[in-house]
Amino acid sequence: MKIIVTKNYDEMSKKAAELMAEIIKNKPDCVLGLATGDTPIGMYNELVAKYEAGEIDFAAVRSINLDEYYPISPDNDQSYRYFMNKHLFDRVNIDKANTRVPDGTAENVREFCSAYEAHLDALGGTDVQVLGIGRNGHIGFNEPDAELERFTHLVELTPDTIEANSRFFASEAEVPKHALTMGIHSVFKARKILLLASGKNKAAAINALVKSNITTSCPATLLCLHPDVTVICDEDAYSLV
Ligand code: GLP
Repeated sequence: MKIIVTKNYDEMSKKAAELMAEIIKNKPDCVLGLATGDTPIGMYNELVAKYEAGEIDFAAVRSINLDEYYPISPDNDQSYRYFMNKHLFDRVNIDKANTRVPDGTAENVREFCSAYEAHLDALGGTDVQVLGIGRNGHIGFNEPDAELERFTHLVELTPDTIEANSRFFASEAEVPKHALTMGIHSVFKARKILLLASGKNKAAAINALVKSNITTSCPATLLCLHPDVTVICDEDAYSLV
């Protein structure tokens, strides 16, 4: 695992965008595994700036997102589909038909999950999977548990995640109690994993990711089994290591 510690959030975002831009330049039809949350917003802004400067082109890029609340409609401004359109897809020349975010309105969840996993396979896995990290060590919405699922599945969110994510909603009661998420094996289909973290509230999770034994009670610890992981975090997130 390669760890890059930056001074602050802006530097983390710039470094991450540089790495992503290299991947897009080297393989114009690359498959980007994308993530939501506060953490990658700065990286998306940097990528948009690079696109506007004519440095990168999204015309042939394909993307697939990690997770989505369930149930939620794509036009709900808290949905991850809405987030991706707002922060990236509507601002660059990506063909939206080439983007996938789990469908928060899927009626047959089991069927949806296997189709999503099949789509990931049809893409040949991702060239890079961007990850944030929950303060409880979750990746995607793979919450700490005795067992972790391999593939895309429906998950019940933990009270900690509901509380952490309530800042985006009018009240905690409005946070969906479930989500659709890629599983650990789905994430591992990436040729490269890029995990971003910023701020003191991620320090315990980053400390566990770097130092703790591998445990399903901190899903991020499994990442040390993947052959190509880069962690870019700021000094605050790294402060307990
Ligand atoms: C959310 C998402 C994750 C994200 C994490 C951190 O619940 N499901 O994909 O990485 O929590 O979010 P943030 O970057 O806002 O701290």
